[in-house]
Amino acid sequence: MTQQRKILVTSALPYANGNIHLGHMVEHIQTDIWVRFQKARGHECYYVCADDTHGTPVMLAAQKQGVTPEEMITRVRQDHLADFTGFGIGYDNYYSTHSPENEALSRSIYLALKANGKIESRTIEQLFDPEKNLFLPDRFVKGECPKCHAQDQYGDNCEACGTTYSPTELINPYSAISGATPVLKESEHFFFKLGECADYLKQWTAGNTQLADGRQQPHLQAEALNKMNEWLQDDNLSDWDISRDAPYFGFEIPDAPGKYFYVWLDAPIGYMASFKNLCERSGVDFDQWFRADTDTEMYHFIGKDILYFHALFWPATLQYANLRAPTGVFAHGFLTVDGQKMSKSRGTFITARSYLEQRLNPEWLRYYFAAKLNSKIEDLDLNLNDFIARVNSDLVGKYVNIAARAAGFISKRFQGKLTDVSTSKLLPQLQAQSETIAACFEAREYARALREIMALADVVNEYVDANKPWELARQEGQEVRLQQVCSELINAFRILTVYLSPVLPQLATEAAAFLNVAPLSWIDSTSLLPAGHSINVYQHLMQRVEQKQIDDLVAANRQNIQPAPTVATAAYEAVAATASFDDFMKIDMRVAKVLACEKVEGSSKLLKFQVDLGFEQRTIFSGIAASYPEPEKLVGRMVIVVANFAPRKMAKFGMSEGMITSAAGNGKLFLLDVDSGAEPGMKVG
Ligand code: MSP
Ligand code: ZN
Repeated sequence: MTQQRKILVTSALPYANGNIHLGHMVEHIQTDIWVRFQKARGHECYYVCADDTHGTPVMLAAQKQGVTPEEMITRVRQDHLADFTGFGIGYDNYYSTHSPENEALSRSIYLALKANGKIESRTIEQLFDPEKNLFLPDRFVKGECPKCHAQDQYGDNCEACGTTYSPTELINPYSAISGATPVLKESEHFFFKLGECADYLKQWTAGNTQLADGRQQPHLQAEALNKMNEWLQDDNLSDWDISRDAPYFGFEIPDAPGKYFYVWLDAPIGYMASFKNLCERSGVDFDQWFRADTDTEMYHFIGKDILYFHALFWPATLQYANLRAPTGVFAHGFLTVDGQKMSKSRGTFITARSYLEQRLNPEWLRYYFAAKLNSKIEDLDLNLNDFIARVNSDLVGKYVNIAARAAGFISKRFQGKLTDVSTSKLLPQLQAQSETIAACFEAREYARALREIMALADVVNEYVDANKPWELARQEGQEVRLQQVCSELINAFRILTVYLSPVLPQLATEAAAFLNVAPLSWIDSTSLLPAGHSINVYQHLMQRVEQKQIDDLVAANRQNIQPAPTVATAAYEAVAATASFDDFMKIDMRVAKVLACEKVEGSSKLLKFQVDLGFEQRTIFSGIAASYPEPEKLVGRMVIVVANFAPRKMAKFGMSEGMITSAAGNGKLFLLDVDSGAEPGMKVG
């Protein structure tokens, strides 16, 4: 074994206001494979992550659900952790950025930056929602693009023409939260003087760290370095606004009441906080890992979209807080499904939860992603047909089959006992690749690692075909040879299992039980099972993927785009998949009382409702005007509302905060009713 390394590894912290989907899984599977590999090599390696809980979107999402942000993030964290655990992701700690450790670290890092002269306060003008009484993040301002005049564009860039601008440049801006016209308002903000860090960042981004084992680790991938150089070359690094005004869900800034750290300031510090929490529980010396002169390694696995934060802001933050910098930032590309961006209407926006609920084997996906991952920042496609073919041919056909073909004979003919294989010509061929394959994993060239491993599986299968154990079993006097061949196959299976164990941890555990050996580590690929070793009875280690399972998965994720709420819609296309009980429970329908209802000027289709949901009042637009020419008559009646329907902007008329259900037919719409005695807020289901 080479020298033992101390390695801290992270995956990006998922936002606490969204579900985990297969895009996230690319990252966490990529990271987990690397961590499991390092641990198998005997290094001291820790893998930490957390939910990213702060910011305006989380605050508003909690408000919408009628819960406190703390309640929401507690529940979401449990869901996220359950999803990741379901895919075998083995964190040493999965924490939350809303933690005492993170608050203390964020404050002390901020104070250190301040003491180093890197914080400056400035008064800026920002768009403010006068109805909601809050400053609007760029993404929460919408309006007409100043360049191409496309409607309903976000405050930071136009999706139609790609122009970037500031939200104050939008024509006819409106708040995406309330629909109100925002006003400009002054506020004091704190800035991290990133401009002053340019020299350090030029040096760090292009630099390497010499590892304890002598290798040079570049801090960034070549493509990432090129990208960062574009920012650094022209010295156009702007200072970074790290404060936000109340109301904000986050940590208050020391000595600045009503001012909060911007979520992206405390999020990466959340890596440290998660590790600190782990250290406190397990007696590891946290300070040793974060001192500026540490000899420990720290790596961040991230998606290409958040490179800027990790390759510029984060190293600068650490450096000017007198702490260590990352050893490496490893960015990956984005997941597409069948060659396209994940799509809810096509059913290819696949949630981690749905995959697990449909009972697909998580290790199929781990294998498939690994078979496509390399060290570059390339997008990765999940081709569903290829997924089936790849898993079935490689994992079931080539690898698991080796054990299946040999184990029966060993159990039935030789009481489960292996014979001596020290003279085998086959096994040394497999063992010889141990360091080559290890180097592939180390370099995050997983696709290459798996090609090497499957090439070895091919060699083993050729050996099976050349020796035909099933024929030896029928021939007189071939007992010794039969036991010899099958023992070689069992040993071959064991070596291949070691190589695959970072990718397939669950299968490796079950294989070790079958082989009757302790949990496998990398060094086991260099040894052989001794003569007389007993194996256990073989039970099938992996099923084939069936086409139907994939069809069901896609159906479960397909969200029917609601027909526009208007009378003039064409015939409804019945493409609904079967809804499970859980699917149905996702629709939160409530009894609501109509408080006001009126026609909408400028629209022949819409009625504007004000409804009482018991716990709150809401404004909802419904396209039923043609069926209800006298809307005032609806006041006082009960309706059924989908309360957790995503808020929608209704052209220029404002936000609709739910959906009122109605039956459709014969060119008319009919509101649903509820028997007397029902009260606003009661759950329908
Ligand atoms: N909360 C921030 C990260 C803070 S890290 C200090 C964030 N969260 S996220 O939930 O939007 O994304 C988490 C990670 O998932 C990011 O690395 C992101 O690149 C990755 N991915 C999100 N969608 C993805 C795909 N479709 N494909 C691959 N990775 C994707 O950003
Ligand atoms: Zn535009």
